[in-house]
Amino acid sequence: MKKLTKLVAALFILAVTVGLYTPLPEIKAEGETYEIGVAIYQYNDNFMTLFRNELAEYFKELGEKDGNTYNLEFQDGKNDQATQTEQLNNFIAQGKDLLIANLVDPTGADQIILNAQAADIPVVLINREPQVSTMELWPGKTTYVGVDARQSGVYQGEMIAELENHGDINGDGVVKYIMIMGDAGNVDAEQRTQYSIERLEETIKTEILGEAQRGNWDQAKGQEIAANALSQYGEDLEVIFSNNDGMALGAVQAINGAGREINKDIYIVGVDALPEVVELLGQNQFTGTVLNDHYNQSHTAAEVAVRLLQGEEVSPYFWHDYIKVTKPEEAELKRLDYREESVEEYQTRLKEVYGE
Ligand code: BGC
Repeated sequence: MKKLTKLVAALFILAVTVGLYTPLPEIKAEGETYEIGVAIYQYNDNFMTLFRNELAEYFKELGEKDGNTYNLEFQDGKNDQATQTEQLNNFIAQGKDLLIANLVDPTGADQIILNAQAADIPVVLINREPQVSTMELWPGKTTYVGVDARQSGVYQGEMIAELENHGDINGDGVVKYIMIMGDAGNVDAEQRTQYSIERLEETIKTEILGEAQRGNWDQAKGQEIAANALSQYGEDLEVIFSNNDGMALGAVQAINGAGREINKDIYIVGVDALPEVVELLGQNQFTGTVLNDHYNQSHTAAEVAVRLLQGEEVSPYFWHDYIKVTKPEEAELKRLDYREESVEEYQTRLKEVYGE
């Protein structure tokens, strides 16, 4: 079986075995007040804004249910690791009970984990996947709640492959595309770029026009990159792959500006299922996106945080699935179960499914 076909089979098995969400056991420690420091890589990011708001809402809900008070202090890392490290060290110095961190640069997470460990403050990492070695530094008290970016890339490639013409609008047997990427070194950006094309290549030949370009998750940059490509390559450009919906929204503006018609003479796929994109899908003004399930990720992050606050040891990985979205109703948010993994289980899966 081809590698990616195997992956799709594995995802299917995951979907059927995971099933519906089983709530965590009742929490008992009533009347406690917990101080939680939340470091967000950057406030100016559509997806992380959805995530952040849902996290705050859900902690409120949990507190109403269990009688505890969860005081959240949020900090904007402004996309600068030095600024964010200072914010996290301040949280540690203030003696917070727990940290939730969406790191600017997860490759530099080790010192932060060690500082937190020295002060006995558990850490929940979110959104940007850390290196496996980071997860081994303080087992039981450090965890990552997230999604597997490879899966979102595969789904992007699949949505184009599943079109009647497989994205080959001019019928020459080759899909010509551009790739708009998130920031350098970001796992989501690297993996979405790689796996979307690998998946599409299983169905049809592809050719990149120019080089993949960094839009750094930003709408205005996405617009600029797409506008330049549209004027440089004209009708040759058949598909725009964007590592996220934010940049894709910019690309849609550029496509409209160039007088091209989405789903007729050009296709576009993104990731996140931002409300604006779901609306465009409903109007046939977008080809496909992938729900980056901020709803389930934030709820699970909060529930795992509560377990850590109660002194429990937890698994290093809590995963949710991405969901392929070509129709608005597929982006509906509902509570789903997560998959817990140890470091060994994760590594075995990577080897078996992706050959990594
Ligand atoms: C999301 C992007 C977001 C980025 C921030 C990614 O997982 O898809 O939209 O900007 O995370 O790290």
